[in-house]
Amino acid sequence: MQNGNNFEIEEHAQTYYIQTFGCQMNERDTEILAGMLEQLSYSPSASIEKADIILINTCCIREKAESKALSQIGELKKFKNNNPHLIIGVCGCMAQQEEKAKEIMRSLPYVDFILGTHNIHELPDVVKKIWAEKQNYVLVWDQEKEIIENLPYKNKFSYKALVNITYGCNNFCTYCIVPYVRGRERSRQSEYILKEIRDMVNDGVVEIMLLGQNVNSYGKDFTEIEYDFSDLISDINEIEGLKRIRYMTSHPRDFNLKLIKTIAKCEKVCQHFHLPVQAGSDKILAKMNRGYTQETYLKLVDNIRKFNPNATITTDIIVGFPGETDEDFLETLNLVKKVKFDSAYTFVYSPRKGTPAANFPDQIPLAIKKERLQTLNQIINEHSREKSEQYLNKVYEVLVEGHSKNNDQMLSGRTESAKNVIFSGDDELIGKIVPVLITEAQTWILKGELQ
Ligand code: 5AD
Ligand code: SF4
Repeated sequence: MQNGNNFEIEEHAQTYYIQTFGCQMNERDTEILAGMLEQLSYSPSASIEKADIILINTCCIREKAESKALSQIGELKKFKNNNPHLIIGVCGCMAQQEEKAKEIMRSLPYVDFILGTHNIHELPDVVKKIWAEKQNYVLVWDQEKEIIENLPYKNKFSYKALVNITYGCNNFCTYCIVPYVRGRERSRQSEYILKEIRDMVNDGVVEIMLLGQNVNSYGKDFTEIEYDFSDLISDINEIEGLKRIRYMTSHPRDFNLKLIKTIAKCEKVCQHFHLPVQAGSDKILAKMNRGYTQETYLKLVDNIRKFNPNATITTDIIVGFPGETDEDFLETLNLVKKVKFDSAYTFVYSPRKGTPAANFPDQIPLAIKKERLQTLNQIINEHSREKSEQYLNKVYEVLVEGHSKNNDQMLSGRTESAKNVIFSGDDELIGKIVPVLITEAQTWILKGELQ
């Protein structure tokens, strides 16, 4: 078989497998990488073992994420031994760190190429070069350039989709590696976003998740027009056929009253507010460079609940940030008790080389961090359970997402508040929004009956 550039490739149909670590941004990048591979005539492989090209899309937000990705790359050596024609690529946030990229090329020489986060559009060229020259490549721009539009994509789901609205982050929270591996904040022009969503809706998508490290600073980099996140969601709300709008992640500092009111008014925007608080102590919040205090955060929660009485509020919390005393940690517990989050992602602080906090004095011993995490999780779980019980005996609209992970005879879906609901029903309901009566409440899941 010949492709457009006259590079010989194998006679049999070539297949790809992409393993994704990390957040929804990486998941979206994977869909774009898949789209580009399909343009090169690759088709999805049923298993990693059988693939002709394997991409590992890495995450480096915490040490654990990085070591998981590294051990997965290590596993690939045996596949390469079995199939010397196999192409192996490493991309994503870990690949963007120069030191890590060099280390991978040095210690794992069977990796054919490394692609930084700013270079994913170069995948087709790199693959073609490898076909032709059988040479290794490292393509990691140290800085972001203009946003590249109109890349192909292959969405994982037919009924819900991820849509990038901003790339990068300017916040430089002192614990976080993201600004170093995703570059400065850039907003996509709204025309591209709206067109992409319209195209997806025409293809059957009913729910979209708008993606950015800090979605509510969307548009701050526009110099010629004034158009912000509220304006964007108001325009998206008008798209016919679209049923639900979600967004991830928003920064409490930038969540203004205009946005709260806009969300209340736009019926398609889900009343789910994911507001990472990170810590409760003002001293720690300042050291994290978060730009708010416990008091201003609580005021924000009050305002959200005032204008959106059905709001569910979830959060991210880090325990054991350098210098966090028992009193500081108690402030986190106090805040959690005041807000009563519907659920929370909780993490032990993981020092990331190159971030300011990694060099802060008074790093907390792991045993204390783990103890604090356990104490925190216990309280959060109690709240989650209480919140779940409030769903009992009421009917909710559920977007059916597929089969339950634990019981493939049952369907699984999400309420507008992002609560997972398990119920029995026909496969043809997948992708549809249906009414479900909640009959049983557990901490993280609800069980129900189709109405
Ligand atoms: N250690 C632990 N958790 C972290 N997060 C980001 N950086 C770190 C780190 N170095 C958490 C924050 C963020 C979430 C995506 O990951 O809570 O909101
Ligand atoms: Fe990291 Fe803070 Fe940016 Fe979120 S806002 S990506 S935590 S630097």
